[in-house]
Amino acid sequence: MLQTPRGTADLLPADQAYWSYVTAHFQSICEAFGYGEIRTPVFEDTRLFQRTVGEGTDIVEKEMYTFSDRGGDSLTLRPEGTAPVVRAYLEHGMHRLPQPVKLSYIASIFRYDRPQAGRLRQHHQFGVEALGEEAATIDAEIISLLLTLYRSVGLTGISLQLNNIGDAACRPQYIEDLTAYYRSHVHALCDNCQARLERNPLRLLDCKEDSCQPFIQEAPHTLDNLCADCDAHFSTLKRSLDAMEIEYTLNHTLVRGLDYYTRTVFEVWPEAVGRQSALGGGGRYDGLARHIGKRDVPGIGFGTGIERIILNLQRQGVAPDERQPFSVYIATLGERAGTYGIGLTNDLRQRGIRALLTYKQRSLKAQLRQAGNQAADCAVIVGDDELAQGQVLLRDLKSSTQENVAATDLVQALERLRAGEQDPQ
Ligand code: HAM
Repeated sequence: MLQTPRGTADLLPADQAYWSYVTAHFQSICEAFGYGEIRTPVFEDTRLFQRTVGEGTDIVEKEMYTFSDRGGDSLTLRPEGTAPVVRAYLEHGMHRLPQPVKLSYIASIFRYDRPQAGRLRQHHQFGVEALGEEAATIDAEIISLLLTLYRSVGLTGISLQLNNIGDAACRPQYIEDLTAYYRSHVHALCDNCQARLERNPLRLLDCKEDSCQPFIQEAPHTLDNLCADCDAHFSTLKRSLDAMEIEYTLNHTLVRGLDYYTRTVFEVWPEAVGRQSALGGGGRYDGLARHIGKRDVPGIGFGTGIERIILNLQRQGVAPDERQPFSVYIATLGERAGTYGIGLTNDLRQRGIRALLTYKQRSLKAQLRQAGNQAADCAVIVGDDELAQGQVLLRDLKSSTQENVAATDLVQALERLRAGEQDPQ
């Protein structure tokens, strides 16, 4: 028996209530904030991610699904959503549009991760990217959009972790100081950190090993080493967050797992679980576009895992609005009635009424049982003899009342029932 590949999941109709619920919230919030939807291909030129996410990162080193196609090109299943959006911005000359260009996406993401609760090899993200604006007020807008999403779906107990990791002007000096600090402790570091010291020193601050924690706590902070521009940028961000009454925790160890970030970085952590399973994260990436095209484009955005949002909603006992649409079951007895039922079902569906029918001749009892199993609101019962007289029986399955209705009045009667269902007084 073949099964889904490890770390992937089927999305069954029963799972849809949560997916539709969170997606509807995301879409309406993006609309309110003025972010238009973009879709990019599931795979891209491998170099796109090597150049932007970074050669020394876990994603590029260990987690990408990379393959050669039949023409010999190296392609990679999208391991994150930002680089493809910036590529599309540059490719389609969006720098000529009024800036900033504000984009949102719902995308499947592929990472060869170790599967566990909330960690998949194919997951899905809601993301937004704002391109062409460097002012920190838009950083605050992006953070507010993310928190608005969590609040509106009903998540509680979340915390916003915030840091600024500097830019091309101040980060090189900071990295030198950080490296010098860690070199003096090199023999006490875990193997991973010894490698990071050579390849990606900022990631030293993200080590999870207990033995490395004291060194992280004592390490120099990026916030103490910002240049004047980064410092002013961060002050504006904090002022804007205060103006929106958004609380945050300054976290000097927050450095993120992708190389393209500059200045603002943030994550949102669910109650008591922490960074291992962040609900969402993002930041500013003013240097990213230059790695793709010959243009400097400031940008900021976030990604948030849809499966993680749903997992946390379920942990917190928040159920989506599961009201089913009004539905009608067409029960037929006899051949002519069966044929009429097919036409009636199709007619109702064209009018947007959810109509169910029996696909083969069955007893009335069996059909009504099926109507109940499918939670139909009412049944139209059609028999050959009654039909010859232009009559059908309309049974309200909730109240178990029924009436004879002229076939010509049936649609109107159903519309009335549907309206009553949607607007119960
Ligand atoms: P990221 O932090 O790698 O950032 O991923 C964003 C979110 O995707 C995470 O916070 C988490 O909710 C979810 N996620 C990541 N990996 C997995 C996984 N294996 N299984 C389930 N969910 C996962 C980015 O991808 C950046 N592109 C975000 C960004 C946008 N930065 C700027 N703009």
